[in-house]
Amino acid sequence: MLSLNNRLIEYEKEGLLSFHTPGHKGKAEFFVDLHFPAHDLTELPGLDMLHAPEGVIKRAQERASEIYGSESSFFLVNGGTVGNQGMFMALADSRGSSPGKVLVERQSHRSVMGALVLSGLEPDYIRSIVHPEFKVPLGIAWEGLNKLPSYSAIHLTYPSYYGTVIDLAQIIKEREEYSPQMSVLVDQAHGAHFLHDLFPAGALELGADIVMHSIHKTLSALTQGAMLHMQGPRISLAALKRSLEMLQSSSPNYLMMASLERAVETALNRKPWELLYEAVEELHYRAGKVVRILNKEDEGKYGIKELDWSKIFVNTSSLGIGAYQAVEFLRNKYKIQSEFWDEENILFYLGIGNTPEEVQQLTQGLLDLEKLKGQSSKVGFSPQEESLQDIWLSGKGFLPPRRLTPREAFIAPKVKVPLKESIGKIVGESISPYPPGIPLIVMGEEMTQDILEIILAHKGKWQGWEEPLKSIWVIEEG
Ligand SMILES: Cc1ncc(COP(=O)(O)O)c(C=O)c1O
Repeated sequence: MLSLNNRLIEYEKEGLLSFHTPGHKGKAEFFVDLHFPAHDLTELPGLDMLHAPEGVIKRAQERASEIYGSESSFFLVNGGTVGNQGMFMALADSRGSSPGKVLVERQSHRSVMGALVLSGLEPDYIRSIVHPEFKVPLGIAWEGLNKLPSYSAIHLTYPSYYGTVIDLAQIIKEREEYSPQMSVLVDQAHGAHFLHDLFPAGALELGADIVMHSIHKTLSALTQGAMLHMQGPRISLAALKRSLEMLQSSSPNYLMMASLERAVETALNRKPWELLYEAVEELHYRAGKVVRILNKEDEGKYGIKELDWSKIFVNTSSLGIGAYQAVEFLRNKYKIQSEFWDEENILFYLGIGNTPEEVQQLTQGLLDLEKLKGQSSKVGFSPQEESLQDIWLSGKGFLPPRRLTPREAFIAPKVKVPLKESIGKIVGESISPYPPGIPLIVMGEEMTQDILEIILAHKGKWQGWEEPLKSIWVIEEG
């Protein structure tokens, strides 16, 4: 097998067009004057310190804060992951001995579940709504804060991985009315580019207390470069600083930090986004006649308020082919590499580094998929079997009873049992079909017959599970 380095060299030679993260899309123009290896430095005289900034890092963070309109902004060198962890830790620290419960979307990224383990906070989950055609959770079932008990915080993902946006403005309005002490924490990992009126409003602008941006996903920072922003009095700034100091590396990557500084400045230029917007409009107009693409008509339905047009989410089932087949076709014939696919959907992910010409190439490729109509290959498409998406659609199994907090389950003594003997037991692993990595069961929850059936029906890959489909760690009881 090739070394990792040689594999990267081979991959580069393939010359694929990137419709996936990172947002710079491999374009050198974003890294002019950033010198590798000369600038791969550490905290030396004159170069400031991430955890106690007084010089160039302080200035760069202040500039980011100005651009996003926060009170304080922090560079994250361990990805958006550490941002989710940091906000929950800061909440736990700020609320001291009466942390209260937190309300969390069940379709949150796994870093949120990890943040619950680290912080020890007790969650209630917000149910997801599955879109009937795409058969993935694209929105949330929001009941209204007046119908819910009080929480110390709510954590929301805005936008989702697929570019759907919930009604955050409404939730924040309800917070002001019914629960003014409740912190609103937002994972805006996929929406660092919400800086222009071409996109939905940013969460800071809407009044969230803490917001995380994975700058590397849609903007031009190096992979892992992210930011955390805060405003308002609900969370202590000192607590947030303490949390980040504990969680982040003591050897921050200077190339990454310099790329963060550059990325937010570059993102302010509206023109490249305008050109991409026009190309995406054209794509919807033309390719939307061949394949189903999530579009403006989906707004206002299934818990979706708005869409971020920079995510192009395509369903291939009307062509009678599996998504994998389309992904292979687009890669081989059009050199297009998508971000994600499942059995019948493909996600094309735009970033600041994409060009309108690349979007036009994608449009051509999608139009050409018509050729594959009815040529179903066995790979990745099995319409006769009940897919995981179909089961999700039936609504079966969501939100099994929670008997321990994720943290209690994490530290509890565990035993491994055969999967089929786990019904009624409290699980000690969070297990997620991958992609998309949204847990079917979170550690601390009770295995039910429905969840077990869903697990057994899933044919794909798993995350967070030591022995998929064979055995499972459960909490030792009695
Ligand atoms: C919604 C969401 N939040 C957080 C993260 C974690 O961000 P990062 O990969 O920058 O650590 C991801 C990663 O894919 C994500 O999709």
